[in-house]
Amino acid sequence: MAFDIEMIEKVYATMAERVDKARELVGRPLTLSEKILYSHLWEGMPTQAFTRGKDYVDFAPDRVACQDATAQMALLQFMHAGKSKVAVPTTVHCDHLIQAKSGAEADLAFANKQSKEVFDFLSSVSNKYGIGFWKPGSGIIHQIVLENYAFPGGLMIGTDSHTVNAGGLGMLAIGVGGADAVDVMSGMSWELKFPKLIGVKLTGKLNGWTAPKDVILKVADILTVKGGTGAIVEYFGEGAESMSCTGKGTICNMGAEIGATTSTFGYDDSMRRYLVATGRQDVVNAADKVASYLTADAEVYANPDKYFDQLIEINLSELEPHINGPFTPDRGTPVSKMKAEAEANGWPIKVEWGLIGSCTNSSYEDMSRAASIVRQAVAHGITPKAEFGINPGSEQIRYTIERDGIIADFEKMGTKVFTNACGPCIGQWDREGADKQEKNTIVHSFNRNFSKRADGNPNTHAFVTSPEMVAAIAIAGRLDFNPITDTLLNDNGEAVKLNPPIGDELPTKGFDVKDLGFQAPAADGSSVEVVVSPTSDRLQLLAPFDAWDGKNITGAKLLIKAFGKCTTDHISMAGPWLRFRGHLDNISNNMLIGAENAFNGKANSVKNQLTGAYDEVPKVQRAYKAARIPSIVVGDHNYGEGSSREHAAMEPRHLGVKAVLVKSFARIHETNLKKQGMLALTFANEADYDKIQEDDTINFLDLTDFAPGKPLTLEFVHADGSKDIIMANHTYNEGQIGWFVAGSALNLIAAGKA
Ligand code: F3S
Repeated sequence: MAFDIEMIEKVYATMAERVDKARELVGRPLTLSEKILYSHLWEGMPTQAFTRGKDYVDFAPDRVACQDATAQMALLQFMHAGKSKVAVPTTVHCDHLIQAKSGAEADLAFANKQSKEVFDFLSSVSNKYGIGFWKPGSGIIHQIVLENYAFPGGLMIGTDSHTVNAGGLGMLAIGVGGADAVDVMSGMSWELKFPKLIGVKLTGKLNGWTAPKDVILKVADILTVKGGTGAIVEYFGEGAESMSCTGKGTICNMGAEIGATTSTFGYDDSMRRYLVATGRQDVVNAADKVASYLTADAEVYANPDKYFDQLIEINLSELEPHINGPFTPDRGTPVSKMKAEAEANGWPIKVEWGLIGSCTNSSYEDMSRAASIVRQAVAHGITPKAEFGINPGSEQIRYTIERDGIIADFEKMGTKVFTNACGPCIGQWDREGADKQEKNTIVHSFNRNFSKRADGNPNTHAFVTSPEMVAAIAIAGRLDFNPITDTLLNDNGEAVKLNPPIGDELPTKGFDVKDLGFQAPAADGSSVEVVVSPTSDRLQLLAPFDAWDGKNITGAKLLIKAFGKCTTDHISMAGPWLRFRGHLDNISNNMLIGAENAFNGKANSVKNQLTGAYDEVPKVQRAYKAARIPSIVVGDHNYGEGSSREHAAMEPRHLGVKAVLVKSFARIHETNLKKQGMLALTFANEADYDKIQEDDTINFLDLTDFAPGKPLTLEFVHADGSKDIIMANHTYNEGQIGWFVAGSALNLIAAGKA
């Protein structure tokens, strides 16, 4: 399991020289983000200054992490690339495929049975190719990465949007699609558009009921789900230094909810404390030697408006606890305003469930602060009005909080302790009665609250808040409960006021664990066999996608014009579909079933232009594929926001969709489409979206001249014979056009040309 101190020392050994050179080239002081980026260039020593938001740059990440749902496809692709061992330290974490139902023991046993085939596949591939394997029950990927692998100044990628969590330990950690991970695991560079930089200056100090979560809930409210797109968010100031390392992780984690490339904090004492507590004094010793390179130059934080593209200032002393939602994490409501907001919007006041966990908030500190609220309720004889569940972030945390009596405190209140895994956060929640689709409210400490995310019920109003607020609200059973001002009635009818939460940043007796749940890979994996049954409905070896035939795409049908929010959940739904993540053909039956058809306002109902009848999106697309007719998808703003799920790009590719034309893309999804050999295009004129009609046939007029910076011309032929010429922009560079031409990025790797 051991973290790779040699690799870390190697990164630090070249850091000073590279950063000093970059400072000279850029000609001004550097932010922390720039220092990490310039010290991880694929070319090594910087030779030029890059323009933020414009230049595509090749980087050399230090690590890769994959979770079990995305790892299946990533590893299937990696096998297809023909390498014998991963080129950089890589880990696989089994956390997404475990359903929360009865409690940890029974749920884990069930998952081990139900997903045995997948876990065995991941375990054997990991063993063969030199990958560290974290078994089911070991914990949530991002918590384990923070506890074991993250280090200040590092650059890592992960096949999960919340990889960004590791920014809490001063890394740049970025969520990518499986295809990007495959590149890096195969020893290739990783490309990223040099991000813009948003500075967040934190003054004052958190106090009372306010937690690190409230910082990011406030930032999400300010920036919205699109506000961080293409940018790194760098936090600094006295307020940043006063927060715990895991609290910083919480803030960075939810940077994914504002679309940010990643978020980070400069190296400080909270990180030293956390590294020591998690057994990494060696990393502290190494980091201390280059400490000035692990934070921005002093001038940057002294005059931040000169060095960041955007600056936000938050006074932590004045920050109120926030409750964000429902249905979107950027709808922020300070606790004092919730009563009025809930009434005005008709949100159900009664809270049915409080859930604490997810990679966002499942640290020792989170659990201990929430437990301090629970303890008060028990001591005062208050029966909680809502049901309560927790998912510890890792076995190390679970074992330690059990030892310290925290689990017992939760259990006194009837709390269900679920597996150390994602559980309800990813829709892996067998919630009793959810199928009745009743309007109801839940509060949780997770990061996402899109419709249906937790329990599949579109009428569940999910609100995101801090663990301590989840505890208070679940005990009160009311969404409008404000623990700062309100009292609760105990079982004797007496009014009780809860004291603000208290808790330990780190366990005073240290972390402890019996079995981490880690499997180290074989030293020589050449004889390890990886078995995939040809009759499996969960795993399927991949066949390469066809190369471009060099001709214009003509006679394409419009599959769907999606209206409004179209996240990767809408394109490739999670929940029950997670089980098909390793089987491209089977999972393609969920393609775009959550997207709203702009012509009839319905989900999963589009016109089959061959028959004129309405049918489910995957069925219509399969009909086009069978008839060898290409198709295109049209979408709205921020298409593909949400996650790094490359299935959202592979499914349309597999089923024969040729292009996705939208008003704007979420970054990861746009890259994923390119990697799979699709055309990811944006309207040159957004208003042209309105010209697209339901029976349109589309001809590309100049795809044969596909070139960087040159818009493509599309002809939309309407049912009445009239035509509209629509210009489509794209962001393909030469290399990415090579992916399109070869049929996919992987085809180029396998051919040894990339
Ligand atoms: Fe898992 Fe939810 Fe995080 S799905 S990785 S706990 S966002």
